[in-house]
Amino acid sequence: MRKFAVLGNPIAHSKSPLIHKLFSEQIGVKQEYIKIYVPLNYFNKKLLDFFKDGGYGANITIPFKEEAYKICNMLTVRAKNSGVVNTTKVVNKKILGDNTDGIGFFNDLKKKFTFYHKNILILGAGGAAKGIISFLKDLNCNITIVNRTFINAQNIILFFKNIPQLHCISLQDFQKTNIIYHKYDLIINATSSSMNHTILELPNNIIHPKIFCYDIFYSKKLTPFLKWCYNNGTNNLFNGIGMLVEQAAYSFKLWYGIKPNTNNVIQYLQNKII
Ligand code: ATR
Repeated sequence: MRKFAVLGNPIAHSKSPLIHKLFSEQIGVKQEYIKIYVPLNYFNKKLLDFFKDGGYGANITIPFKEEAYKICNMLTVRAKNSGVVNTTKVVNKKILGDNTDGIGFFNDLKKKFTFYHKNILILGAGGAAKGIISFLKDLNCNITIVNRTFINAQNIILFFKNIPQLHCISLQDFQKTNIIYHKYDLIINATSSSMNHTILELPNNIIHPKIFCYDIFYSKKLTPFLKWCYNNGTNNLFNGIGMLVEQAAYSFKLWYGIKPNTNNVIQYLQNKII
């Protein structure tokens, strides 16, 4: 029986064990999938201990995705392109790192939104934002990053080598800008602020009836970000359940070579959580 885990801090809320249980049932395999709480500064030890104890693969979540990238001995192209790792696997006693956040996000939202040549605003400059940007930057989209800490947004621009379709604005400047109504087609909240029930303070005229709003987090009711979007005039609201299940499906594929069916699992979680 293969052993898997998800490592993060906090981790109690994680739905990954449930999602992977549903996937493994689809292909009729028995597996173990546990949550591992990792104190800050203990990530490397916890991951290595898990693999020494016979772990086959692990998911990595907040706030360790960049540390995971550094500890891997081999990287998939997706991981190399994003600078972050959310999925690992032992191959010949070495750790292989992958990033399935970008493709997971894209696979979920592409069912409802056409990405090509769109203006996209990304809130946040952490691991999740990097994973998503690494995927979207090749779709001819214009991407603006706004983040609480400006230097972190600037570092993303540097990481992606100053490509012209990607730029950042400081939160203060963004709050002052007179944003043209209808400028953005999509806003992605890739911050972890929903976990603290807060949102970045943004000018409310960025919201218009046709804009799509996506929060990579989810909660029983609308997340604070999605509620703010709704209150300012759009019904195109999406929480992160779809991305969570899709990214997990690509992790599962790295481990078993089969991409499981995601629609039923997304539906199950949306009904159970909301
Ligand atoms: P992840 O791997 O999910 O991206 P992360 O790497 O810890 O997690 O990144 C978290 C992101 O959420 C960062 O952009 C962080 O902003 P800072 O760069 O300023 O730290 C953002 N974030 C976290 N809490 C926030 C809050 N309360 N308000 C606004 N942004 C927040």
